[in-house]
Amino acid sequence: MSKTRAARLKTPRATFLTDSNIMKKITVKDILSKKKNGEKIAVLTAYDAIFARLADAAGADIILVGDSVGNTFLGFESTVNVTADMMLHHTAAVARAKPNALIVADIPFAQASLPFDNLLKLCMALLQNAGAEAVKIEGGEAFKEKIAALAAAGVPVMGHIGLLPQQVLKLGGYRGYGKTDAERLSLIKDAKALEEAGVFAMVLEMVDSAAAKEISASVNVPTIGIGAGKDCDGQVLVCTDVLGLSAFTPKFAKRYADCADAAKNAFASYVKEVKGGKFPQS
Ligand code: KIV
Repeated sequence: MSKTRAARLKTPRATFLTDSNIMKKITVKDILSKKKNGEKIAVLTAYDAIFARLADAAGADIILVGDSVGNTFLGFESTVNVTADMMLHHTAAVARAKPNALIVADIPFAQASLPFDNLLKLCMALLQNAGAEAVKIEGGEAFKEKIAALAAAGVPVMGHIGLLPQQVLKLGGYRGYGKTDAERLSLIKDAKALEEAGVFAMVLEMVDSAAAKEISASVNVPTIGIGAGKDCDGQVLVCTDVLGLSAFTPKFAKRYADCADAAKNAFASYVKEVKGGKFPQS
């Protein structure tokens, strides 16, 4: 291995830092202050060290090790198949990139519904062994007590309301929430319950934009929208959607690059050169 490559691997963060973009580690307190200061929060998912480094170098405030790893990198139909061990594995990979961004790990399917001790133990493993700095739990008022107890134990929790992808088998599909008065009021109740429980932020997924605006105005903690309009305090996108690598991209996501084509072309050039005897040259 060349000296420069060995040096780069030892100090992964240094390769992306210049004098003008050196940033300090982002904490939960910084995320809360951003809402007070009217600064938008940018969140990207990442599931390994390579993408975590790239998201961090791009200036993301939060790297979410989402259970969307299931239906992106792992090839499952939904997030339901994602286990606690998978989350620990992918969170540890992200943490090895030592990002400045806050690392939030998803609590996967049904784990938050287990008795509190089990949930606390998973949070401990994510924070103590894997290197997460906060966890995200799908669900609203129903999880108020558990989230408050986690907060009391020192576990920073991000909430998640609106569409709850972990419920897909029960729901029979994905849809938007908050268009009717009943749903809007129920979402506001959920948001307030999460705030009272002590979350430091909450995801609003596929929430009607008017309802998301109202929720964002009625809580003091930041709302992070995905398919929830422009009036949330921040936005989150799945990294493979941003890069054009997803097998399926939801309508609300914006593709900023076509990395699938770039990767396919690079692979095809390599295969062609090997088969044509052009690589390696000597
Ligand atoms: O798992 C995930 O990536 C998420 C986002 C869609 C918010 O929960």
